[in-house]
Amino acid sequence: MPISHDKWFEGVNYEVGFWQNYLNAKGGVRWSDDFRNRFDPNRPFNSMVEEAIRDTGSREIELLDIGSGPVTSLGYVSKRFDIRITAVDPLADAYSVLLDEAGVMPPVKTQNCFGENLLQHFGSRRFHVCHSCNALDHSLDPRNILFAMAQLLRPHGLMFVRVHKNEGESTGYSGLHNWNFDTDENRNFILWRDSEKYKINEDLSDFVDGRAAEMHVDDDPEIVFIGYRKAV
Ligand SMILES: C[S@@+](CC[C@H](N)C(=O)[O-])C[C@H]1O[C@@H](n2cnc3c(N)ncnc32)[C@H](O)[C@@H]1O
Repeated sequence: MPISHDKWFEGVNYEVGFWQNYLNAKGGVRWSDDFRNRFDPNRPFNSMVEEAIRDTGSREIELLDIGSGPVTSLGYVSKRFDIRITAVDPLADAYSVLLDEAGVMPPVKTQNCFGENLLQHFGSRRFHVCHSCNALDHSLDPRNILFAMAQLLRPHGLMFVRVHKNEGESTGYSGLHNWNFDTDENRNFILWRDSEKYKINEDLSDFVDGRAAEMHVDDDPEIVFIGYRKAV
């Protein structure tokens, strides 16, 4: 079940305020490297995602970054591939105003789209990679977005989802933190909230083969799901 639109819209001001501070302060003390990297068109592409891409013999990679924020965090330049990033976020129009105010221009402009509307917007089998980092737990209906991501992929395409572990619970569902992701001893990719619980890899098994894993970044537990579109 999606969360209510009211709950989602209540969180928007916090999210926009966060990015307004981030952009105006050029990342501030905490995120100054992150800021520099995101706006550097020569920044190497994310190595963890690059290593997970299956070689299809083609250098051209069409990648969709879902919930990218005002500027993607993925980096841009790869030795193995020519990566064309399409970045989407439902707050892109607000972010566009913030970017103008801060006087900065991202190498890839984020387009306005809810994750829940991706399939209608782009059509199926469009992308070699569907990626999302720290965004699906912020959405109204992550299960719907995950189904869309699976269908947006070309055969053998990579689905790469990275999220903080149980972010809804650990933040008290503040701002746009609306859902929890977790994994278990069988590396199932679990989405839950209140009494709702889904094993996403089983839900997607007609389309995608995938497993989740927990990793720690600066002591912060994250869940990474890596799956590949079946050749159907
Ligand atoms: C914490 S930011 C992460 C941005 C970026 N991915 C990163 O790692 O820096 C979460 C983003 O998720 C976006 N988001 C919220 N609801 C969404 C939805 N329904 N579909 C796609 N993205 C959504 C927010 O607008 C916000 O920009």
